[in-house]
Amino acid sequence: MTAQRIDGNALSQKLRAEVSSRTAALKAKGITPGLAVILVGENPASQVYVRNKVKACQDSGLHSLLEKYPEDLTEKALLARIESLNQDPSIHGILVQLPLPKHIDAQKVIEAISPNKDVDGFHIASAGALMTGMPGFWPCTPYGCMKMLESIAYDLKGKHAVVIGRSNIVGKPMAMMLLQKNATVTISHSATTNLKAMTLQADVIVAAVGKRNVLTADMVKPGAVVLDVGMNRNDEGKLCGDVDFEGVEKVASYITPVPGGVGPMTITMLLVNTLEAAERI
Ligand code: GUN
Repeated sequence: MTAQRIDGNALSQKLRAEVSSRTAALKAKGITPGLAVILVGENPASQVYVRNKVKACQDSGLHSLLEKYPEDLTEKALLARIESLNQDPSIHGILVQLPLPKHIDAQKVIEAISPNKDVDGFHIASAGALMTGMPGFWPCTPYGCMKMLESIAYDLKGKHAVVIGRSNIVGKPMAMMLLQKNATVTISHSATTNLKAMTLQADVIVAAVGKRNVLTADMVKPGAVVLDVGMNRNDEGKLCGDVDFEGVEKVASYITPVPGGVGPMTITMLLVNTLEAAERI
């Protein structure tokens, strides 16, 4: 068996076309969805990410505001800026790019964002809403993974899903979303003793560790669906995920490639969340 690829670029294109038309409809009513993106410091990867987020907004007709601050910005100044963006009616989503410099308490900053504008879905109120099945913003990467499963009409009811990784940004919210769709969910992590025994039972595997070859072909049940959230470099400097793609694609039924899989979906779901924040007004 060779797995079918779930193409994140193609799915993103389709979803972004929907975002564009819903944005145009909202603009006709006098509301332009607006996203504020805050970058503190010079982290090169973060600079690329924020540039891509702003460009995606522009391409879909959303208003975006990119604010770059020097590394030595004080926590107090950042909190004050967030408070003024919370009050700004032209801004519907606020995103503070992580990581922040060490002297700034990232959690405090996240909690300062109004839950109504928390389009990253990182606020405790958003996490609590997801956990209890209440309306709220879902973190973009796991939300994108759910859209990928939806795109292949995959019914999670009664299936066993194994999430590898327990981060607040991907692993934990991913598990909650899968649970909400009636999967039986296992979260594995660095202290898990027999990962292979677990993944061999899985109908769906989400790898979100940030390490190459966490999942190899011998760990995958034939026909399983494999979503790769990893973003790493191999020895030749080429982008790769957490999954040994060449091996696993011979065993899985569906697989997401890296690049061109989950990656583009993350920004797409950010646009969706920002649009929905504006639609709720
Ligand atoms: N840093 C890496 N990924 C993300 C993300 O999705 N949102 C924010 N705010 N920072 C990040």
